[in-house]
Amino acid sequence: MEQLQSYLEANKERFLNELIELLRIPSVSADEKFAPDVNRAAEFVKQQLINAGVDKAEICPTKGYPVVYGEKIIDTKLPTVLVYGHYDVQPADPYELWNSPPFEPVVKDGNIYARGACDDKGQMYMHVKAFEMMMKNNTLPCNVKFMIEGEEEVGSVNLGSFAEANKEKLKSDVVLISDTSMIANDVPSITIGLRGLTYLEVEVTGPNRDLHSGVYGGAVANPINILCDMISSLHDKDRRVTIPGFYDDVQEVSKTEREQMARAPFDLNDYKKHLDINQELGEKGYSTLERVSIRPTLDVNGIWGGYVGQGAKTVLPSKAFAKISMRLVPNQKSDKIMKLFEDHFKKIAPPYVKVKVMPHHGGEAAVTPTDSVAYKAAAKAMEKTFGKTPIPMRTGGSIPIVTMFEQVLGVKSVLFGFGLDSDAIHSPNEKYGLFNYYKGIETLPYFYQYFSEMSAK
Ligand code: BES
Ligand code: MN
Ligand code: MN
Repeated sequence: MEQLQSYLEANKERFLNELIELLRIPSVSADEKFAPDVNRAAEFVKQQLINAGVDKAEICPTKGYPVVYGEKIIDTKLPTVLVYGHYDVQPADPYELWNSPPFEPVVKDGNIYARGACDDKGQMYMHVKAFEMMMKNNTLPCNVKFMIEGEEEVGSVNLGSFAEANKEKLKSDVVLISDTSMIANDVPSITIGLRGLTYLEVEVTGPNRDLHSGVYGGAVANPINILCDMISSLHDKDRRVTIPGFYDDVQEVSKTEREQMARAPFDLNDYKKHLDINQELGEKGYSTLERVSIRPTLDVNGIWGGYVGQGAKTVLPSKAFAKISMRLVPNQKSDKIMKLFEDHFKKIAPPYVKVKVMPHHGGEAAVTPTDSVAYKAAAKAMEKTFGKTPIPMRTGGSIPIVTMFEQVLGVKSVLFGFGLDSDAIHSPNEKYGLFNYYKGIETLPYFYQYFSEMSAK
C-alpha cells in the first residue's frame, strides 16, 4: 500500500488534469441540446477505463444515453465489485450566479469548481484512478466491473431494463457507489439510507386564452392564483402533507435509532448560517436531521405561467404550471404516491379550472446494511485513511438504482461517498475538495483489500 501512496503522489497532477478534462464536457442529460456532449463524456470515460487497465470496455446503447461498461476479471473464483457512477450532470442554470463558467473548471482554495465536480464526475473518477493505481502496482485483489451511466440526473429510466437484460454481465458481490456525502472532512460517515422520489408536473387551465386582466380580472379564475391555493393546501399548519394516505406506509423509525441519529454531530446554528436563514421549517415533532432523512416531504421545484418577461404586462393567464417532487421513505411506493397525489389534486381542483397531472419519474427509498462484509470493509478503509471510525447515517437525496439493483441483481450497495453537503451539488458554484478527491482515491484500494480479505474468511 505504500507504493500506492507514492504512485498517488507522483501522479496527482495528471489525476486532476484528467478530471478537469472530463468536467469541461457539458454532459447535461436533461437538455437535448447537449446530447453530443453527453455522448462525448461516455467516450471519454470508456477511453480512461481502457487506459487504466480494464480487459475490455464498451459503450452499451440504451433507449436513452449509453451505459459505459468495463471489466477486469482476474479470477472468477474471487469476489467481484461492481462500481456504479454517473457521467451526466444537472443543468448549470442559472449561469449568471456562477463565479466562473460551470464548464470551465477552476481550482481555487483547495477546491475544484465546475458543474459535476462532486456530483458525480469527481467522485466517479476517483474509482477509475484508484483502479489504475491497483493495476499499475499489481495490487488489485479481486474482480472489478464498472457501470457508469448517463441518465442518473433524469431518473435512470432505462437502467432497469438494461440491468434485466444484462444480469450475467453485471453479476457481482457488491455495488460500490460514490455519489453521496460525508458529515465533514474530519468526521467521516457512510450513508446507509436514501429517500425515494416521485416527480410530476401539473397544469392548471382557466380561460381558453390569455385575457386582459382589467377587462376580465375579478370575474374569471386566474389559474396561477388557483394553483397557489391548491399548492398551499398540500401542507397543514404542522407542515404535514395533507394528501390522504400519504403517510400510511411510512416506516416509523425506532426510538433507539432516533437516539442514535441524534448523536451525529450537527449544529443547527451553523446550518442556518450556512443557508442564510433565520429559522428552519419542517414537520412538527422531528429534528432537522430527521426531517431530511426519515420523513417524507413535498416540494414545488418550479412554478410558472403568465408574463415573466421585462417590464409589466397586464394579463390574466390561461395556464399555470408547477413541477412537484415528493421525497419518500422506506416502505412507501413511488407509484402509489403518484396515484394518491393525482387523485387528490384532481379532487381539490375547483370547478372553474381544469387540471392535468403528468408523471415524470420516481424511485424507491433504500436502506443499506451495516453488518455486511462490504460495509465493514468500507468502514475499515475509512478508519485507515481518516484515522476515525465513520458514522453510519441516512441522508435525504435519492439514488433510485440502489433498490433497483437489489431487486433485479440481488446485490446490495455500499454508499461510499466523499463529498460534502457544502459542495453545492445541483446549485451554482458546485465544487469538490481536492482533499476529498485524493482521499477517495487513497481510500478505495483499502476497501478492495479488506473486502477481499474479509470475503475469503
Ligand atoms: N448524487 C445525487 C444523490 C445524493 C446527493 C444522495 C447527496 C445523497 C446525498 C444524485 O445525483 C441525485 O441528484 N439524485 C436525484 C434523484 C434523481 C432521480 C434525479 C435527487 O436526489 O434529486
Ligand atoms: Mn449523483
Ligand atoms: Mn445529482
